[in-house]
Amino acid sequence: MAKTIKLLVLAGDGIGPEVMTEVGRVIDWFGRHRQMKFDIEPGLIGGAALDAEGTPLSDTTLALAQSADAVLLGAVGGPKWEKLPFDKRPERGLLRIRKELGLFANLRPAIMFDALADGSPLKPEIVKGLDLVIIRELTGGLYFGEPRGIDSPKPGIRRGINTQVYSTPEIERVARVAFDLARKRRKAVCSIDKANVLETGVLWREEVQALHDRDYHDVELTHMYVDNCAMQLVRNPKAFDVVLTDNMFGDILSDEASMLTGSLGMLPSASLGAAGPDGRRPALYEPVHGSAPDIAGKGIANPLAAILSFAMCLRYSFGLEKEALEVEQAVKGVLAGGMRTADIMQTGKAKVSTAVMGESVIKELDRAR
Ligand code: IPM
Ligand code: MG
Repeated sequence: MAKTIKLLVLAGDGIGPEVMTEVGRVIDWFGRHRQMKFDIEPGLIGGAALDAEGTPLSDTTLALAQSADAVLLGAVGGPKWEKLPFDKRPERGLLRIRKELGLFANLRPAIMFDALADGSPLKPEIVKGLDLVIIRELTGGLYFGEPRGIDSPKPGIRRGINTQVYSTPEIERVARVAFDLARKRRKAVCSIDKANVLETGVLWREEVQALHDRDYHDVELTHMYVDNCAMQLVRNPKAFDVVLTDNMFGDILSDEASMLTGSLGMLPSASLGAAGPDGRRPALYEPVHGSAPDIAGKGIANPLAAILSFAMCLRYSFGLEKEALEVEQAVKGVLAGGMRTADIMQTGKAKVSTAVMGESVIKELDRAR
C-alpha cells in the first residue's frame, strides 16, 4: 500500500475556500484512481484565523504545518481586516508561516498556455510559448530585516524604517535552487539586483557569480539590474529562463510576469525550505492571486492556479512527475475545449463558474485515464 500523504489545507480568506474546494476534487480523484492515499487536515490562516482564534496564524496551526508533508494554501486578506495594526493583519500569518517553516525559495512559473495567447495585454508574438520561472528569495531582505518600525526622532516628525540585509548563506541557498532548476530547463539563470546602488546588490551579484564559478559551470549566468529587468520582461520576456531575485524585487517582478500570461488566475507557486535530517522538505503551495474580495462568494473565481499549485506539490514534494503532468495536461485540455472563467473570458468561449471549471478538470482527468 502506498504511503499516506499528509496535507494541511489552509483555505484562508476571500476566494481561497472556493478555489480550494476544487483542489479537493482533484486530490480525491488521485485518491480514487491512483495508488495514493491522502490524509487531509483543514486549518485556519489569515482573516479566518483572526476571527476564530484572535491571531492570523496560531501556534497550533503552525505545529500542524510543521508535521504535514506539504501545506496547500488558498489566499489571505480582505477589507474587513485592513484597518488592523500590522501584527494582526492577515498577511502576517502568511509571512509567519514562510519564516517559521524556513521557506526560503519561492518558485513562480509564468507559462503562456497556447489557448490563452490572445488574452495577454501584450502582442501574441511576444508571449506565445512563454515559459519562465522566477525564483524569489522569501525569508530575508527588506521583508524581515531589522531594525524596522515607525519611530519619532523629533516631536511632530515620524520616521519609517526597514532594513535590506542579505548574508552569503541566504544568497547561496536560493541561488542553488535556481541553478538546479535551470539544469532541468534551458540552463540559463538571470540574476537580478540593484548593484549599481545597493551594497546588498553588490554582495548578491558577487556571491551568485562565485557559486556559479565553483559549482555550476554548465549553466549560463547573466546579471541584470532590476529596473532593466522590469523593462525586458515586457519587451522580450521569452529571453528569460530562470530569473533569480531577492524578496522585494521578486514580489514586484512576479506580479509583472504573471500579467504577461493574461491572468493572475492561472499562476501557481511553490515555496520550499531545506530538507531536514529525515529528508523531508518543508513546502507550501499557493496560487499567486490573492483573496480577490471583490469576487469572493460569487462562485466565479478561477480555480486553475490553485489546481496547478497542487500539480507543483505532486512534483516538488513527492517526485510525482507523471501525476503532475496529468494535472497540467487536464488544465490544458479544459482550456483547449473553450472553458473560461470570467478572468480569462474571450469572445466565442464558454463562460463557466468555479465549480464547473473544477468539474471540467476532473472530466479531462477521466478522459485521459
Ligand atoms: C505575495 C504577496 C505577499 C507578499 C503579501 C500578501 C504579504 O504579495 O505572495 O506576492 O508580499 O509576499
Ligand atoms: Mg505579491
